[in-house]
Amino acid sequence: MCGIVGIIGGGPVAGQIVEALKRLEYRGYDSAGIATLEDGRLERRRAQGKLRNLAERLEKEPLAGHIGIGHTRWATHGRPTENNAHPHASDKLAVVHNGIIENFRELREELRGKGHVFATETDTEVVAHLVTEEMRQGKGPQDAVAAALPRLRGAFALAFVFDGYPDLLIGARQGAPLAVGHGEGEMYVGSDALALAPFTSEITYLDDGDWVVLTRDGAVFHDANGSIVKRTRLRSQASAFLVDKGNHRHFMAKEIHEQPEVVGRTLAHYLDMSAGAVRLPFELPFDPAKLSRITITACGTAYYAGLVAKYWFERFARLPVEIDVASEFRYRDAPMPEGGLMIVVSQSGETADTLASLRYAKENGQHTLSVVNVPTSTIARECDVVAPTLAGPEIGVASTKAFTCQLSVLACLAIAFGHARGALSREAEAKLVSDLIAVPGLLAEAIKSTAATEKLAHTLSKARDVLYLGRGVSYPLALEGALKLKEISYIHAEGYAAGELKHGPIALIDEAMPVIVIAPSDPVLEKTVSNMQEVSARGGRIILVSDNNAMHEAAVNVEAHLVMPDMAPDFAPIVYAAPIQLIAYYTAVVMGKDVDQPRNLAKSVTVE
Ligand code: M6R
Repeated sequence: MCGIVGIIGGGPVAGQIVEALKRLEYRGYDSAGIATLEDGRLERRRAQGKLRNLAERLEKEPLAGHIGIGHTRWATHGRPTENNAHPHASDKLAVVHNGIIENFRELREELRGKGHVFATETDTEVVAHLVTEEMRQGKGPQDAVAAALPRLRGAFALAFVFDGYPDLLIGARQGAPLAVGHGEGEMYVGSDALALAPFTSEITYLDDGDWVVLTRDGAVFHDANGSIVKRTRLRSQASAFLVDKGNHRHFMAKEIHEQPEVVGRTLAHYLDMSAGAVRLPFELPFDPAKLSRITITACGTAYYAGLVAKYWFERFARLPVEIDVASEFRYRDAPMPEGGLMIVVSQSGETADTLASLRYAKENGQHTLSVVNVPTSTIARECDVVAPTLAGPEIGVASTKAFTCQLSVLACLAIAFGHARGALSREAEAKLVSDLIAVPGLLAEAIKSTAATEKLAHTLSKARDVLYLGRGVSYPLALEGALKLKEISYIHAEGYAAGELKHGPIALIDEAMPVIVIAPSDPVLEKTVSNMQEVSARGGRIILVSDNNAMHEAAVNVEAHLVMPDMAPDFAPIVYAAPIQLIAYYTAVVMGKDVDQPRNLAKSVTVE
């Protein structure tokens, strides 16, 4: 949530800051701003709305400073107006902020009592005034920041520049990510390495509680106690990834079409294809045979990947799995069994609720494993073992390729655990592995349903509500389909376990509501067919996502059939994800929505 960047450059930095902000816009895009120092004095430009509005403003009113900070916002406190846009400033400094200052109300009252006047509705402004107050007491910028930081509660990352200090930038991190980039006579700070990739691949991540003093000569890191500490400098891979749309109109379309390749790459990382076995690319610091239970927690689409995995771990490894959304799990005070494993799933590796659940599990003696797409993320760094997804950067706010890569990794883990626990014979493992090897090719075929989906999108775009149904491993996919549609088209959609239809939602069925049924040829197809007949008998509009056999079995009139390739049913969610994503994508396109940056959302949710 919110992207921050800071540069101490060798020439004017505003252009570079805008370039970096473009790569951070996925974190929020309701307003943006920049502050630089011109002749030692702070100058700001801010604009409501997308980053392009700020870029246009800068064309008319350029900033020439050689040091500056920038921000792209996802509003938490205060409406997304220009006045609430960052950087926030005083006569002494400007600051950009990602996260939430939980105690901002009490700090604001205290500072008002000392004569400070607040101009915005944001929590961030208290940071500007708090550090300013310390400077008015006679402290220099560094001591003032050091004195202010311990007074802030919440999860945040900050970057400051100071009036009259053209060679000083200070960054701080508590619970939200921050990376320092090392250049030649230039220094950078940013929410992630991707933002800094055009300038440097030499990156140092701040640990939680750290703050850093940057000058043109380099970086000095301090821990939460103020002691100078060493932090490792890494070579980031981020620059290897081109953040562009290729020939596609949107990042989401590009990312959907990339899936055969990235799922293939991810599977190749985990499978020994010639031996027909799973070979985990890391040592497990626990014995899967001794696990008493798995707990899975995540948010949004990552949670639905975990829900599919529950079926796999139970079936392949005969392991009981508990699963909950992270925002509920973290506050449930859940008892955790001895010898249990917590699996957290997250594309960004920074989701606040997922991170808090991971920490809870560690405190409660669980082994911890994360399935993440960003190997340098906080979640990846804090868990016992990281199972990476090799999806590459996902820019579209709607998660697509990260989901199918998460499923691929979780399938491999379930098979590996099944093998280790003696729940899968060698033959059964080899069969599952050969089914998995077929998945990238099947995904490519499934993506060819594009033409039919585009046609369907025209009718769906007129619907007010849409119902998604699925059973077994297709049930989480029904939930995911509904989430995808609502987040980018704003059409109300619900996902249901098909068996739950007659317990309530069947009352909704009429000629107006499309019912999207996800029904591969699997052991529960017969049951799903009964549910389709119930919908059909009430004049419902069925859109069937299935193979030809299931279509034949269903023997009901359907409004549309998105034809899926024949496949072994266990891994159908990875392949059937493609038409589900395409339905949402084309519907949103037909409706003229902002597909990559839907309203009110952000890619990385680092606040709870
Ligand atoms: O980065 P994470 O995977 O932890 O993010 C979790 C959710 O915020 C994310 O999946 C969200 O639901 C997406 N917008 C779904 O498309």
